Amino acid sequence: MAKKVLVTGGAGFVGRHMIKRLLELGHEVHCVDNVAPLTGGLLPKKWPLYSPFDFKNFYFHHEDCRDYFKRVNDTDFDYCFHLAAMVGGRLMIENNPLAVADDLSIDAEYWQWAARTKPRKTLCFSSSAAYPIGLQKEKGYKLLREDMINFDSDIGMPDMSYGWAKLTCEYLAKLAYSKHGLKSVVYRPFSGYGEDQDETYPFPAICQRVLANQGAKVITVWGTGRQMRDFIHIDDCVEGVLKSMDQIDNGDALNLATGLYTSFIDFAKIAAELCGFSPEVRGTSDKPEGVFARAGDPAKLNRLGFKYTIDFRRGVERALKRFQTLG
Ligand SMILES: NC(=O)c1ccc[n+]([C@@H]2O[C@H](COP(=O)([O-])OP(=O)(O)OC[C@H]3O[C@@H](n4cnc5c(N)ncnc54)[C@H](O)[C@@H]3O)[C@@H](O)[C@H]2O)c1
Repeated sequence: MAKKVLVTGGAGFVGRHMIKRLLELGHEVHCVDNVAPLTGGLLPKKWPLYSPFDFKNFYFHHEDCRDYFKRVNDTDFDYCFHLAAMVGGRLMIENNPLAVADDLSIDAEYWQWAARTKPRKTLCFSSSAAYPIGLQKEKGYKLLREDMINFDSDIGMPDMSYGWAKLTCEYLAKLAYSKHGLKSVVYRPFSGYGEDQDETYPFPAICQRVLANQGAKVITVWGTGRQMRDFIHIDDCVEGVLKSMDQIDNGDALNLATGLYTSFIDFAKIAAELCGFSPEVRGTSDKPEGVFARAGDPAKLNRLGFKYTIDFRRGVERALKRFQTLG
């Protein structure tokens, strides 16, 4: 049956993919997004992979979600995908922490609105950045498991104001459930990637750099290049959400992860190999690299019936093909 769905921040990378599937399922989708500068947001007429206006069940509200929350008091939303956030790539997280801190107010106003309008279910997008950075150091890093953040005993120091805001949003989800009975599930995506991601993110940036320097002896990547991330294709993120979203109601968290570590150096090597050359890959000391090793334990998501299907090499190949077609 068709549902009424709100997607805050729906004009961003994750939102565009999520909305496509929701529209295909026949749901009535309301996307609220101010297309904030410095984020991956794009006006719907510029969405690279499809036009949402081909669907009659799509509604776009071009405004700050905090204004929308003041203006709209619909009490019949079945699902609210709360994605709106000042994110940006690593440069934004490291160099613009106060702009990112806007997320604290976006999330506070979301949960206050939800307490008033009582959507049947919230899907709250946190991040792997909420995990304690102490567990992601070169010595002794660990595969990150949902219960390594425990609001009753130990939360640890998250990654910059971005991770801090996400952690607070998660805490508010717990309170919204215990004090107001608001049902929600919290997602912690790891490094979601795809061919239409903003170029401030490592995935498109490294693919484009390799394509632009085909045959070169040396390719550079940010930081030491030894830093490792858990790359999960956006299609797997979306399917993982759709498979699991009705199975948790109490604000508990779920990783969207593969459990695999890939260093930036290995990533560039895979991309170069797919383009038919094998350069030396070096780090650049002037660009931030973030934590050393960040990957998520996918066991909980697996137990709920979902395992990723697109391996990283295939994801890179897909993106390279698209970038080559676009020229
Ligand atoms: N992409 C990933 O791999 C990843 C990883 C971890 C967490 N997340 C989380 O998923 C969500 C979406 O991330 P994304 O990668 O699509 O980022 P994105 O930058 O592409 O999208 C964020 C969207 O939020 C919108 N936005 C910002 N402030 C707003 C406001 N006040 N009102 C309305 N809209 C506003 C932006 O315009 C943008 O369209 C975020 O909450 C992010 O923290 C994503």
